[in-house]
Amino acid sequence: MDHFEYQSGVLHAEAVSLPAIADAVGTPVYVYSRATLTRHARVFRDALAILPSVRIAFAVKSNPNLAVLKVLAAEGYGADVVSGGEMERALAAGMAPGSVVFSGVGKTTAEMARALQAGIGQFNLESLEEGLELAEIARGQGVVAPCVLRVNPDVDAGTHGKISTGKAENKFGVPFDRAAAIYARLAAEPGLAMRGLALHIGSQLSRLDPLEAAFTKIGGLMRAVRDAGHTITHMDLGGGIGVPYKAGELFPSPEDYAAMVARVTDGWGVTLMFEPGRVITGNTGVLLTRVIRVKEGAGHPWVVVDAAMNDLARPAMYDAWHDFGSVTPDGARMTANIVGPICESSDTFAMAREIDVVARGDLTVFRTAGAYGASMASTYNSRDMVPEVMVDGDRWAVVADRIVPATILAAERVPDFLR
Ligand code: LLP
Repeated sequence: MDHFEYQSGVLHAEAVSLPAIADAVGTPVYVYSRATLTRHARVFRDALAILPSVRIAFAVKSNPNLAVLKVLAAEGYGADVVSGGEMERALAAGMAPGSVVFSGVGKTTAEMARALQAGIGQFNLESLEEGLELAEIARGQGVVAPCVLRVNPDVDAGTHGKISTGKAENKFGVPFDRAAAIYARLAAEPGLAMRGLALHIGSQLSRLDPLEAAFTKIGGLMRAVRDAGHTITHMDLGGGIGVPYKAGELFPSPEDYAAMVARVTDGWGVTLMFEPGRVITGNTGVLLTRVIRVKEGAGHPWVVVDAAMNDLARPAMYDAWHDFGSVTPDGARMTANIVGPICESSDTFAMAREIDVVARGDLTVFRTAGAYGASMASTYNSRDMVPEVMVDGDRWAVVADRIVPATILAAERVPDFLR
């Protein structure tokens, strides 16, 4: 459920008409609904409340906007970060350092040192090598780093290959059959406080059974690690729950997910940690764009919009579907290809799609663009960095400025040897 609805034939975000935002800010622009964001955060949190002890770390990569993080911080969310930049954002949004989890296979020495200084709550170690380096940095600072070990459970998440992370051939975590030995080795390091295990098998999961298989597997590993004499107090079950991108698609609800987790983790006696991204932010945003022109084609007409793959990369990268519609539909329908202005064929949002009839100058939206939309934007083809707006009832504000090519150009230099 979201708060993007038609009122008197015009698409609104909560009580604000999208044409009003387009007039003031221009297009393309991401528009977020605060009420939708808050609702999703609460539904997920409340669903997990059936579990004994829970910490939720929002996957910042899905939507790192400061205003979004601020809303989630107020809902009691911590952050799952994968870079120094994401960590600074979480802290700037007022999230307690202790509620921040640092994931990722390539944490640099500088990032780990800064995270230790900031008092980050947990490092999700992805290798023995990384753990040994962190132990040394921690000893140097005279502190102990709270850690869990990310394990690769070798489970097929059944999602797109490019966002699958829990198969043995993926780069993430340590191999399942070596995990207990690596855990023991790291637990012997005075600079580390090993306290549990972590996994994350992939994103946009449409079924619960791969997650259940992975949780069951890591539960067995937890018992083996405990049997070897180690204490486990935290288990991080990652993120990955998918959302419907097409009207009518059915996905497991947070309640279904929580019930499955409760069943599998019964008796674990740990704090369970979660790293949801898309399920929190996916539905909270649309990408508002204007039709530049409709161009005749050999087959269906080409609807050329002013958003492109640099603004919303998911269709180009993962053949992802985003529902597309007019902001002021009149009921007529047409079949068309929807593309952006960028000079490559992957700048295609949809082919042979049945859509509202649109013409030059019309405002349109791509739906379910709140996760991995703005966060993956670039300025390819020297286009603007897409701005972001947040709506709150009948109020709205620009929460990320449009960055124009001149600003980027100003950061470039012609070296002396070319003068
Ligand atoms: N935790 C870890 C360690 C992750 O790598 C990810 C996502 C998450 C949590 C959050 O997953 P979520 O709940 O959002 O599924 N750009 C792709 C998605 C990449 C996801 C990467 N990792 C897309 O647009 O579909």
